[in-house]
Amino acid sequence: MKFAVFGEPIQHSLSPQIHQQFGLQAGLKLEYLRILTPPKDLKKRFYEFVEQGGSGANFTLPLKELATDLADQVEDVSLQTGATNTLVQRGTQWVATNTDGLGLVSDLLRKFGSLQDKKILMLGAGGAARGVLPALLAQNPRTLHIANRTPERAERLVNDAFRFHQEAPLSAGALTLMPDPDFDLIINATSSGLDQEKPKIKESLLKSKPFCYDMVYGDKQTPFLEWASGRNCEVADGLGMLVGQAAESFRRWTGVMPDVGTVILRVRKQLSQV
Ligand code: ATR
Repeated sequence: MKFAVFGEPIQHSLSPQIHQQFGLQAGLKLEYLRILTPPKDLKKRFYEFVEQGGSGANFTLPLKELATDLADQVEDVSLQTGATNTLVQRGTQWVATNTDGLGLVSDLLRKFGSLQDKKILMLGAGGAARGVLPALLAQNPRTLHIANRTPERAERLVNDAFRFHQEAPLSAGALTLMPDPDFDLIINATSSGLDQEKPKIKESLLKSKPFCYDMVYGDKQTPFLEWASGRNCEVADGLGMLVGQAAESFRRWTGVMPDVGTVILRVRKQLSQV
């Protein structure tokens, strides 16, 4: 079996290590490549990979939107999110899907518990937020408020989601104005952690001691999680989401669902040794 992740940059990607560990668990021999791919070369690189026997692919930044165009069939989740992180081969056809949302939800279910009837705040309205919205809504939260530094972008995201989920308990606004500070869960889907920053949100949001999740991960805590854990909130970073989305891709390619917990622990250890 031959798989690959396409992106630019790609050298930092942990996907090969993660999938090798899934392969070991499942007793499957596999090859998993990193393929450096600028957007203009995506078609060429992908078809070269297919010719060499590639049987499943992942896509990361900045290719998630373009990757949908490679597919013969597009699953609803890719249509709704406008993004594809996984292509699955079915006979002669390639099927586009997006496992990011399932990766996030499975990690939240493990660490936070059921999302049903919970009041959720998601910070950010870029590609990362868009990619997980349908999976979060499928868990039937009581409310899901999207707050963004540029509020118009949050409004656009919510309006797009209403096209597919007319009854969704969604609202949108600016970071500084929240309709109801009594949240159970705050998900940071902004890229602020990559710049060692935290979104500028009010201290009072932590009064209800929400569980705080940051989609960004690394060898040290993001400023958002540092801020929240310093105020006695439970926190988790996005490493479990990364391994979870990989596990869903692996399941779609091989029919085997890996044990995610042991792989998260191993990757965490490797990260701390870098
Ligand atoms: P991604 O695919 O990682 O979501 P993106 O589409 O560029 O990347 O979106 C980045 C998101 O992080 C946006 O919601 C951005 O807010 P704006 O839309 O206002 O630009 C948000 N973001 C990035 N840095 C931030 C910061 N320091 N504080 C708050 N929000 C930030």
